[in-house]
Amino acid sequence: MRTKLIAGNWKMNASKPMVRELVAGILAQLDADRDAEVMVLPPSPYLSLVHSLTESTPVLMGGQDLSAHESGAYTGEVAGSMLADCGCSYVLVGHSERRSLHGEGDELVAAKFVAAQASGLQPILCVGETLEEREAGQTEAVVSRQIQAVIDQAGIAAFARALVAYEPVWAIGTGQTATPDQAQVVHAAIRGQLAAGSATIGGRVRILYGGSVKADNATELFACEDIDGGLIGGASLTAESFMAIYRAA
Ligand code: PGA
Repeated sequence: MRTKLIAGNWKMNASKPMVRELVAGILAQLDADRDAEVMVLPPSPYLSLVHSLTESTPVLMGGQDLSAHESGAYTGEVAGSMLADCGCSYVLVGHSERRSLHGEGDELVAAKFVAAQASGLQPILCVGETLEEREAGQTEAVVSRQIQAVIDQAGIAAFARALVAYEPVWAIGTGQTATPDQAQVVHAAIRGQLAAGSATIGGRVRILYGGSVKADNATELFACEDIDGGLIGGASLTAESFMAIYRAA
């Protein structure tokens, strides 16, 4: 039984008043009777504030990115150990905006995955194809390559302490969601790839869907066999829309 997880990727959106209001709204709508988990992924400067507001609550916290390095002369970078020190237990790696806007390739993403685990964080490995790749029939090949790069560097056993998020690039922030069928096919392929290395790990790993998830499409997506929750961008910025998705899970 895989517990559903609803994770809010705030991206580069926050201010102290907004953080206080959003977290208060999330906490007010948490329901002890539901077994879905809630996570927030704030920009780094707000991690300590969010931690202070959530540390004695069930709300989980993660970073949006980390450096592949441990420490040293890497101006502007944030190490996994620092995220852990500020209260994170998770971190995104390989979000498509990091891949496309910051030129992160499969090897670097895999190195970040390894660095995250070395700091005691659970990486959430983001994978997904562009529209061009989907139209060329390459979706599964692209996603499989992205996953394989991490298996090659970290080993299959590392996925016992990690999550995967399938986020078709064409669905991120566009209002265009993958249909439940389109998403389920890719989720099943990801699970199959991991299960080929270890049936136990393939069966247990949580695979989130991301890309324009809203309350009105979440129920159908989360009903799919291999979809274990969502990575939510735009709709995670108000407690109302985020917690409506939580209730759908
Ligand atoms: P979106 O973003 O929900 O705004 O499409 C999802 C993501 O990038 O994680």
